[in-house]
Amino acid sequence: MYAPSGQMTAAKPPVGENEIVLRTGEFPTTVVVGKGLLFRISDFTGKTEAPFVVADEITGPLFADFLEQRKGLFTLPRGEEGKSLPRVSAIYSALAKSQVDRSGIILALGGGVVGDAAGFAAATWMRGIRLLQCPTTLLAQVDSAIGGKTGVNLPEGKNLVGAFHPAEWVFSDVECLRSQEEEDFRQGLAEAVKYGIGENWNFLSWLEENAGPILRRECCVLLRLVSECSRMKLAVVSEDEREQSGSRARLNLGHTVGHALEAVSGYKRWKHGDAVAAGMMVAARLAARLGELGEEECLRIGRILSRFSLPTGPDRPWEDILPFLARDKKFTGGVPSLVIPRKNTSCTLRSDIPLPLLRETYEESL
Ligand SMILES: NC(=O)c1ccc[n+]([C@@H]2O[C@H](COP(=O)([O-])OP(=O)(O)OC[C@H]3O[C@@H](n4cnc5c(N)ncnc54)[C@H](O)[C@@H]3O)[C@@H](O)[C@H]2O)c1
Ligand SMILES: [Zn+2]
Repeated sequence: MYAPSGQMTAAKPPVGENEIVLRTGEFPTTVVVGKGLLFRISDFTGKTEAPFVVADEITGPLFADFLEQRKGLFTLPRGEEGKSLPRVSAIYSALAKSQVDRSGIILALGGGVVGDAAGFAAATWMRGIRLLQCPTTLLAQVDSAIGGKTGVNLPEGKNLVGAFHPAEWVFSDVECLRSQEEEDFRQGLAEAVKYGIGENWNFLSWLEENAGPILRRECCVLLRLVSECSRMKLAVVSEDEREQSGSRARLNLGHTVGHALEAVSGYKRWKHGDAVAAGMMVAARLAARLGELGEEECLRIGRILSRFSLPTGPDRPWEDILPFLARDKKFTGGVPSLVIPRKNTSCTLRSDIPLPLLRETYEESL
C-alpha cells in the first residue's frame, strides 16, 4: 500500500534528507529518488501547468490521487497490450479533449509499459511536449524511465516504433514498490544485479550483503538500490545519449541470450528480468572461458541470482534459440557480439566470440 510518510499537509515539507537528486552535465534528465514524492513534485519542478497523467488500470487507482494536480487522466490496460499504436492514438484523442497544447506536460505514472507508451505520446504530440516520469516498478525506476527511449510494439514485433524523448524529471518514489507483485519486483532485481556485474563490483557486494532487507523491501535499502542504479544508468546514457558511441551497449549484458529466450517462449514463459538473469549466467561462464572471470566469480554470480530467486541458466536447447539469436542486430555475418563481464571493472562488448564457443558455453549452462 502506498502510504507517503508525512501524508498530505498544506505546508509542503522541504526537500528531505532521504532524497537523492541526480543530474549529469550532459543528459537532460534530473532523477529524484525518495519516499512520498508523488504529492510534492512541485517542490522540485516549481509551479507548472497541471500535467496530463497516463497510468494503467493498476497504477491509476493506486497512485493518481496522490498527485497534487492533473489536467486529465488516461488509463491504459495493464501489460504489453498497453504499448500499441491504437492505444497511443487513444491517448492523442484524450490529449485533444483535455486541450493539451504545446505548453502541456505528460506525466507517466506506472511501470515500463506506461513509461514507454506515454513517453512516445509526449515525443510525438504536437512534435513533442514536456515529459515527467513517475516510475512505479523497480524495473522502471532502475532502468526504463531513465535514458530517453520511448516506444510501442507492433504486431510484427516488440518496440519497433519509437523515439528518443528524455523525461525532464524522473520521480522514483520507492514507497510505490511495496505493492508490486513479487514476480514483477524480481524482474527489476535482475537489472540491478546487471549493474553490479557490468558496472560496479562493489555494488554487487552491497547487493549480496543487503539481499534480506532488499527482499523485505525496506525503504532505506530501496533508496540506496534505486539511487545507485539510477546513477549508473544516467552515467552510461550520458556517455552515449543516442546509442552511437557504443557505451550504451554495455547495458545489454545478458540481453542477447535473454531476448532470444523471451522470444522463443512467445514472451510468455520467460519474463524479461528472468531471461536476462539466465543470459548473464551464460555471459559469465563465457567470460570464465575467455579468462576474464575466475570460477569463483561465476559461482558468486550464480549465488546472488539464486538469492533473488532468479534463474541461473536457460532451459531451451541451443537449436531452439539459435534462430532467435541470429535475429539480434548485434549478430553479424554469423558471429555474435556479446557483452562480457570482467573482474572488478566494467563489462565490454566483444565481437570475436566464435559461435561454437558460445554454443558450448550455452549448453554447459542448461
Ligand atoms: N524505455 C526503455 O529504455 C526500456 C528499458 C527496459 C524495459 N522497457 C520496457 O518496460 C516494459 C516492462 O516494464 P515493467 O517491468 O515495469 O512492466 P509493466 O509496466 O508491465 O508493469 C508490470 C505490472 O505491474 C503493475 N504495476 C506497476 N506498478 C505497480 C505497483 N507499484 N504496484 C503494483 N502493481 C504495479 C502494472 O500494472 C503491470 O501489471 C517493457 O515493455 C519493456 O519493453 C523499456
Ligand atoms: Zn533489460
